[in-house]
Amino acid sequence: MNPRGTSCRLVLVILMTLTQTAAGVAASSEQQVADLLSRMTLEEKVGQMRQANAGDDPIARLGDELRAGRIGSVLNIVDVDVVNELQRIALEESRLGIPLLIGRDVIHGFKTVLPIPLGQAATWNPDLVEAGARVAATEAAKHGVNWTFAPMIDVTRDPRWGRIAESPGEDPYLVGKIGVAMVNGFQGEDLSDPSTILACAKHFAGYGAVESGRDYATTNIPENELRNVYLRPFKDVVDAGVGSFMASFSDLNGVPASGNQFLMSQVLRDEWQYEGFVVSDWDSIRQLSIHGLTSNHRESAYEAVTAGLDMEMAGDAYINHLVDLVKEGAVAEGAIDTAVSNILRVKFDMGLFDDPYVDPSQFPEVASPEALDVAREAALQSVVLLKNEDAALPLNASKLSSVAVIGPLADAPYEQLGTWVFDGDKSLSVTGLAGIQEFLGSKTEVNYVRAMETSRSRETEPFAEALEAAQSSDAVVLFLGEESILSGEAHSRADINLPGAQAELVREVRKAGKPVVAVILAGRPLTLANIVDDVDAILFAWHPGTMGGAAIADLLFGAASPSGKLPVTFPSMVGQIPIHYAQKKTGKPPTPETIVHIDDIDAHAPQTSLGMTAFHLDAGYEPLWDFGFGLSYTTFKYSDIEASSDSISLDEEIVIAATLTNTGDVEATEVAQLYIRDLVGNVTRPVRELKGFKRVTLEPGASTRVEFRLHTDDLAFYGRDNTLIVELGEFHAWIGGSSKAGLQTAFRIVGD
Ligand code: NOJ
Repeated sequence: MNPRGTSCRLVLVILMTLTQTAAGVAASSEQQVADLLSRMTLEEKVGQMRQANAGDDPIARLGDELRAGRIGSVLNIVDVDVVNELQRIALEESRLGIPLLIGRDVIHGFKTVLPIPLGQAATWNPDLVEAGARVAATEAAKHGVNWTFAPMIDVTRDPRWGRIAESPGEDPYLVGKIGVAMVNGFQGEDLSDPSTILACAKHFAGYGAVESGRDYATTNIPENELRNVYLRPFKDVVDAGVGSFMASFSDLNGVPASGNQFLMSQVLRDEWQYEGFVVSDWDSIRQLSIHGLTSNHRESAYEAVTAGLDMEMAGDAYINHLVDLVKEGAVAEGAIDTAVSNILRVKFDMGLFDDPYVDPSQFPEVASPEALDVAREAALQSVVLLKNEDAALPLNASKLSSVAVIGPLADAPYEQLGTWVFDGDKSLSVTGLAGIQEFLGSKTEVNYVRAMETSRSRETEPFAEALEAAQSSDAVVLFLGEESILSGEAHSRADINLPGAQAELVREVRKAGKPVVAVILAGRPLTLANIVDDVDAILFAWHPGTMGGAAIADLLFGAASPSGKLPVTFPSMVGQIPIHYAQKKTGKPPTPETIVHIDDIDAHAPQTSLGMTAFHLDAGYEPLWDFGFGLSYTTFKYSDIEASSDSISLDEEIVIAATLTNTGDVEATEVAQLYIRDLVGNVTRPVRELKGFKRVTLEPGASTRVEFRLHTDDLAFYGRDNTLIVELGEFHAWIGGSSKAGLQTAFRIVGD
C-alpha cells in the first residue's frame, strides 16, 4: 500500500505524441525555406518578422518599406486591388521577392455573418461550424485576405468578460471540437487552394481567465489547471494543423504571454513540436514594458524573441531592435533564423511563392444563396430554448390574427451581427421583425413597437405604446438583450442583467395578460432571474448574424424545433461567477439538504458550520441553467445506459450506449451528451467532464441507440507532476441531454 492508499491503481505516463506536424508542412518546403534563408540578410530576416497595419493608403505608406524587405505581413486591408499591388511590389521590387501574409479578423463571417462563435458552439455541430468557416474563408479570400485571426479558443467561465462572445465557451472538449472545425473550414484540405485562408489559434494562453472578467486583466492559473483546461483546445488545433498561433495580451502567472517562454517554447515547440509560427497580439511586445516585465522596447524585443514569438503585430520593437540585439550578441542569429523559418514555411505551404495574386472573378459572389443557407442553418441550430411554460412555443401562426413584436433588438440589422464584424454587411441582415413578417405574410397583423432606442435606454414613456400593442395582439414577442457593442474586446460588464429598463418593459407588457415570448440577443450569458417568471418562453439567440431573423421566425412558429444547447453555464446571480459544470467536488459537496437560505437564518444565530457545504447563502449552488441544457418542442427520454464492459485495460476502448426516444409529437434534434467522472485521481478530478456528443434527429415515437466510443487515452489528464497520465480505477459515465444527465453507468480501468 502506498501512502495514498492507491496500491491497486497503476499510473501510466503517456508519452506525448511528438510526431504530429502542421497539416500541409511538406518536406519540400523545408529545403525551400533553408535555401531562401541562406540568401537573406539579417535585416531582411527581421523584416519578415514584422506585421504592419495597413492604415490609410498602404501603397504609399508601406511601399518603400516593402521594397526594402522590411515587412513580412500587413493586416487590415480588404481591397483586393490594393492587396495585389502590395504583393506585386513585394514580389517584383524587393530583392528576394517574398510574398506577404494579409491578415484580418474574420471571426464569424465576412460579408455574410454567422452567429458569434459562442452561438456557433451552441449548435454542438462541428460540421456546420466548419461549413460556416468555409463560407467566411471564401468571402475573405475574394477580398485578398489570406490569413484570419481565428479561431479564438480561449476557454472561459466568466460571462462578464466581453470576449466570451468570441469563445466557444467553458468546456475544453467542446471548445477543442469547435476550434478544430473552424481550422478545417478556414484552411480546407490544401492551404495553397486560393479559397482557403490560414487560421490562427488565439489567444495563447489563459486569456479567458482574466480576473473578474475585466478584459486585459491578469490571469493566475496553476500549471495543472492550465494544462488540463486552458491548453487542451490549443493542442487539439495543433493536431489539426493550424498554421499560426497568436500570443495573448494577458499576464500569465507573472509573465505576460508575449514574453512567456514556458508557453511558446516549452509547451508549443518542445512538447507539441509545432511547426507554424506565432504572432503577437496588437503591439503586445512593446506592452511588456507597460506590464513591468521590461523597462524599454529593446528589452521587450529581447524577451519576446527569446521566448519564441516569431512575428510582431503592429509594433516596432522587433524592427527597431532585433538587428542590434543580434549584432551585440545578446540574441543568437539562430533564434532569428528559427522564427523566420517558421514564417516562411507557412508562406510556402500557402502557395504564395507560386502565385500570391487574387482574382476575385474566380470566386462566387459574396452572400451567395449557399452562404446565406449556411448562415441561416447555423443561426437556427444555435438558438437555445431556455423556458417553454405550458408549451407556449411554437406559436400557431394559423390561429394568430395579430402578434406584437416589441423591443430594441427586433429590428436592429447591425446589432444582431454581434462583435467583430469589420466587414459584415448589415444591409443583408434579416431582422427578427422582417423574419416574422415574411413568415406570417399578410394574413396576420404585426404590431411593432421598438419601445427602447437601445438596449440601455432608461426612458419608460414609450412602454405605454408597447402595452397597447400587447393588449391588441394575440401574442407578444419581445426582442431583448444587448446590442453588439456591449460585448467583444474591451467590453466587459460587471452587471450582466438585461441592461437599461428592459426588465420594466417585460413587466409592463406582461400586464396585457397575453402569452409573452422573450427572444434574447446577446454576446454572453445574461442573468435572467429577474424576468424569467414574467415570460412564458425564452429563446436565447446570442447574436445570430445575417440570417438571424429568418431562423428565429422558423423557431417561433414551429417550422423547426430548437436544438441548441448551452456551451456555457448561465448563473442566477453575477456573484456565483465563476460557476461551471466541471467544478471540483470539494470536501463538502453541496446537496439540496445541506443548504441554508439567508432568509431562514434566525436573528442573532450563533456561528455554525457543522453539516454545511460549499454554497452561497443567497444563491445556493445551482446556476439558472446548466451547461449542455436546451429544451425542444418535443420531449426526449434516455434509457438503458450500458457500458460494453465492466472493465477495460490501458490502451483499450469501451463503448457507452443508451437508448434515446422521441417521446413527444414533433420531429426534432437532440444533442446527446456523454459525461464521465474519474472517481479518484492523483489530482482531484471534476465532478463531470464532457467526453462526447452527437446530434440525433428523431421522428415522434422513434428510438435509437446512441453510442460513444472512448479510448483510455481519452481519459488522460495532467497529474500532480504535470505529465499526462491515465490512472487505473473507477469511472462513472452519464448520457443525457445536459450536464445534469441522470442516467449513469460505471466501468473500471484495470491493470494487466
Ligand atoms: C487585438 C485582439 O486581441 C486580437 O484578437 C485581434 O486579432 C487583433 N487585435 C487584431 O485585430
